[in-house]
Amino acid sequence: MRRIQFDRCGDPEAVLYLAEVAEPEPGPGEVRLRITLRPVNPSDIAYIRGLYVPPEAFPAATGLEAVGIIEAMGKGVTDIKVGDRYMIARQRGTWADKMIVPALSIEHVPAEISDEIACQVHANPLTAWLMLQGVTKPGAIVQTAAGSAVGRLVDQLGKIQDRRVINIVRNQITADDLYKQGATHVVISSQPDWLNQIQQAAGPEPIIAAFDPVAGQTGLDLLSVLAPGGELILYGGLSGQPVAVSAMQLAARNLSVKGFWLGPWFANTSADEQARVMQRLLTLFQKRQLQIPVAGIYALEDFKAAIRHSLTPGRLGKILLRS
Ligand SMILES: NC(=O)c1ccc[n+]([C@@H]2O[C@H](COP(=O)([O-])OP(=O)(O)OC[C@H]3O[C@@H](n4cnc5c(N)ncnc54)[C@H](OP(=O)(O)O)[C@@H]3O)[C@@H](O)[C@H]2O)c1
Repeated sequence: MRRIQFDRCGDPEAVLYLAEVAEPEPGPGEVRLRITLRPVNPSDIAYIRGLYVPPEAFPAATGLEAVGIIEAMGKGVTDIKVGDRYMIARQRGTWADKMIVPALSIEHVPAEISDEIACQVHANPLTAWLMLQGVTKPGAIVQTAAGSAVGRLVDQLGKIQDRRVINIVRNQITADDLYKQGATHVVISSQPDWLNQIQQAAGPEPIIAAFDPVAGQTGLDLLSVLAPGGELILYGGLSGQPVAVSAMQLAARNLSVKGFWLGPWFANTSADEQARVMQRLLTLFQKRQLQIPVAGIYALEDFKAAIRHSLTPGRLGKILLRS
């Protein structure tokens, strides 16, 4: 079977290669899946570049979520049928033809959920959901990288929850696409008066939170539009730049800057509650109240072209790898 792997961290196109490896056999409590579709996420790219948690060993595999078909089961696995479709999440190594995972870590895919959604239904939808849940005060939310999967989901969930979301994007094509998706407020950050436009979009509502996966100057700019007591929530570092916050800027208006990471939620949340939230999200996908567009599907062996596409500004949806 084929697996995309790397022997050192660095530029993905330079360090990744397709290796032929032995097909693994499931041990007790494990299953083997034939993976059919997986996303190319910014966290995969950051991991390969060495900007995330470092790989435990080399050669290292990548990809954290996917959808696949059960091929074989180890001893003690019950309630799972060979041939059924399952979602894999938080299991590194999905950029491969096949994978062994604990049977308890996978979830059955409801018939109405497409492979395109099933393969990316964990990290980004949960992030959008939990960040919104974390904003308890009334008021508007502003967000950067609004054309990303997380950004689109924040906007769609915001609508469902009657929350005003002001979307910031880098270009007109993405702005038009967000309006087509149903967004009400979109501001293009290259326009000179974009910060004023954000205030106008907020109308009478205070802007009480800013969701930002970009950081750098963009994150800093967002502090200026927050109402007193507002929060800048940094959940990614797409610009690769730090946010140079002035202490007085925070102190004078009682602003706070904090991070969000999905990982601890799994550790600190009961299995029942995790299942309840996932079920709620899946139902919204089934009703098409949530959607994540796909901008391209590449064969697994064309991973370099897929990565290049995923890093192209103005892409209108997720890039997926099929096998
Ligand atoms: N903290 C967590 O637990 C957690 C969980 C999930 C995801 N995330 C983070 O969430 C972010 C979005 O992930 P995703 O999978 O939704 O992304 P995605 O769908 O792959 O889209 C990436 C988006 O980022 C925008 N972008 C890239 N570089 C940018 C820059 N320098 N300035 C402004 N915009 C930039 C692109 O905008 P254009 O359309 O203009 O090209 C694109 O819309 C990533 O940083 C990811 O690591 C964090």
